[in-house]
Amino acid sequence: MFVSDCLNINPIGHLTIGDRDTVELAQTFGTPLYVMDENQIRNSCRSYHQSIEKYYGGKGLVAYASKAFCCKAMCKIVAEEGLGLDVVSGGELYTAMSVHFPAEKIFFHGNNKTVAELTEALEYGVGCIVVDNLTELEVLNQLAISMGKKADIMFRIKPGIDAHTHDFVRTGQIDSKFGLALETGEAMEAVKLALTLSHIRLIGLHCHIGSQIFDIEPFEHAAEVMLHFMAEIKKKTGTELKKLNLGGGFGIKYIPKNDPVEYDRYMKNVSLVVKKTCKELNLNTPFVVIEPGRSIAGPAGITLYKVGAIKDIPGIRTYVSVDGGMADNPRYALYKSEYEAIIANKAGQPKDMTVTIAGKCCESGDLIGEGMQIQNAAPGDTLAVLATGAYNYSMSSNYNRIPKPAVVLVNGKEARVIIQRETFEDIVRNDVE
Ligand SMILES: Cc1ncc(COP(=O)(O)O)c(C=O)c1O
Repeated sequence: MFVSDCLNINPIGHLTIGDRDTVELAQTFGTPLYVMDENQIRNSCRSYHQSIEKYYGGKGLVAYASKAFCCKAMCKIVAEEGLGLDVVSGGELYTAMSVHFPAEKIFFHGNNKTVAELTEALEYGVGCIVVDNLTELEVLNQLAISMGKKADIMFRIKPGIDAHTHDFVRTGQIDSKFGLALETGEAMEAVKLALTLSHIRLIGLHCHIGSQIFDIEPFEHAAEVMLHFMAEIKKKTGTELKKLNLGGGFGIKYIPKNDPVEYDRYMKNVSLVVKKTCKELNLNTPFVVIEPGRSIAGPAGITLYKVGAIKDIPGIRTYVSVDGGMADNPRYALYKSEYEAIIANKAGQPKDMTVTIAGKCCESGDLIGEGMQIQNAAPGDTLAVLATGAYNYSMSSNYNRIPKPAVVLVNGKEARVIIQRETFEDIVRNDVE
């Protein structure tokens, strides 16, 4: 009925997440409030883990892309489920380290890692640094020499795939700030250089073709392109790379018309292409890594708000204002991302109102969505925006000096705070008079 399995309606007509009434959660923990369902997160981790095991026979790893939602509790859950972790900054790595995330299962990404971040990654002994460019390669080699370490790396490659997604999240094509291009010879040049560097061990290749993708074909095509490049590397250098990281990007259901592919079907189809292509190219099947972020965290989360002013502009639109907005969910302002919203205390009622949901920031573009269907709203209602578990908390800001909301993790009937609500003291903590 809803975009996520963890959501339901209880006998008094309130929206539930896990076994908790969302209206009660809003009263207990305040609004705005992010709520995540632990079982939904764990089930997604398990589905991915089981299907990678099934189709790659133990030669695969699912690394959760922590940019989607990162905190200590999330890193712990992911580690307990046996997944690896994709981090893209010193802050994400620090969070993982603070819960002793197994270092060998960490992939360190980023198109402009700082020396401090690379040093931290080498000190912690992360399993793989995904090198984006030649400058980074040289810096990393020098650092590794000075620290007496050898860095295991992959190169981020642009496979040149247009994954039919939003421009701002499409990253596989040549005009991208991420990675090395195949067409220009830049990628081969980097490979050849890496193979000569004393403190670098090139273990594989990586690509990530975009986000919120619903088709399997772009992933299959990317795998083929990457394997052809591996074959070319073998031919030109004699080195056969052992690992292939195909990135993340699997689409989720934000609104009813979204139709995501089942993980298992994705894994099956892509694994068939990988095996067939390896056979054709006379390569051993590499160890395959995938990096889902949104599809693990997104469906598990909702955001609860309190409805405030309602402004009806006759013949134009009705604004329903909530006590949050672009500071806790900038995705509509950034990408016009669509969401489903529900009046949590009237969840069983029909959606009779078409509204624009506005936030409280001093910005006309501070909207959660336009043309949204919701139940008849009144000031004081609890509004739930669904599937906000990914790229909401992690992209939130303190614009207008608004403290970030708390994150509550629900497991059945239990609910516990995993990130505390920021206070005004937190807001001024680093100010110097
Ligand atoms: C390198 C890399 N891996 C994985 C992901 C996760 O993508 P998604 O959350 O769409 O699965 C991203 C997202 O930007 C990424 O850049």
